[in-house]
Amino acid sequence: MKTKKLIIDEREKKYLIKKDLNNFGNDLGVIDLENVEEGTAITSHNNHTFYIVEPTVYDIVKKMRRSVTTLLPKDIGMILTYCGIEDGETVVEAGTGSGALTIYLANAVGKNGKVITYEKRPEFAKIARKNLEIVGAVKKNQKIIGLEEDENEKNENETSNNDKHNGLYNVIQKIGDITEGIEEKDVDVIVLDMPDPWNVVEHAKNSLNKAKGRIAIYVPYIEQAKKSVDALKEHGFLDIQTVECIVRNIEITEKGARPSTRMIGHTGYITIARVRPK
Ligand SMILES: C[S@@+](CC[C@H](N)C(=O)[O-])C[C@H]1O[C@@H](n2cnc3c(N)ncnc32)[C@H](O)[C@@H]1O
Repeated sequence: MKTKKLIIDEREKKYLIKKDLNNFGNDLGVIDLENVEEGTAITSHNNHTFYIVEPTVYDIVKKMRRSVTTLLPKDIGMILTYCGIEDGETVVEAGTGSGALTIYLANAVGKNGKVITYEKRPEFAKIARKNLEIVGAVKKNQKIIGLEEDENEKNENETSNNDKHNGLYNVIQKIGDITEGIEEKDVDVIVLDMPDPWNVVEHAKNSLNKAKGRIAIYVPYIEQAKKSVDALKEHGFLDIQTVECIVRNIEITEKGARPSTRMIGHTGYITIARVRPK
């Protein structure tokens, strides 16, 4: 269960607020949210309409706090679909960053699956934990494996008092440098969004389930994609393909419809492959 609700005002400006907040106000007036269910339209004290709805994961990711740039939905969509990530699977990811990709991976594998996410910078892992909490992918202040002990002790106490939401809770966060090794075995999918993924390919080969293990690598530069593909070939991976996804927004107005004059020209290259059975 998500810990936020979404308010959309009549200009379609969006506000993500805490679920238990009882009132809200902006320049269009003040609304009383006590006992107001999501899926309701209410009028402010000065007669403007506000819609109270449940945020999607997309709404939350767009507004969440960032430590580093997150992957865009178009690239996340390609990773999920080209890898064919399914309910119940075990995914290992690095680096966690702000946790945007982690959130979608957690949703894809569902309650029966799990995502183990490695991040080498503790301060980033803590920001990601807050984002993961909002969508119910981790419990409030859930232990991050490898984080300083005294911090975790404090967190565990808070967990017992504050954890009243019923979420997926299928993400395990770890502090660690994934180029030094992957502890998990029999992993279904490994997803890498980090500067030197080629240094993880050998570990990935040893951790992936031989029946259906897949890997996805996202990198912004073509030279990185080439180095990654070379490493995958060296370690015998099958079905290697590299893709780029370009999205054009379409503006539809009274005058006509045409692609938006502004667009994101480039984000990154995605390489997908399957581990070779022994
Ligand atoms: C581009 S960000 C990932 C963004 C993330 N996919 C998201 O959507 O929010 C890359 C992250 O990888 C982490 N990182 C880099 N090298 C790493 C390594 N060897 N092991 C673990 N994390 C690493 C960085 O600290 C950074 O947080």
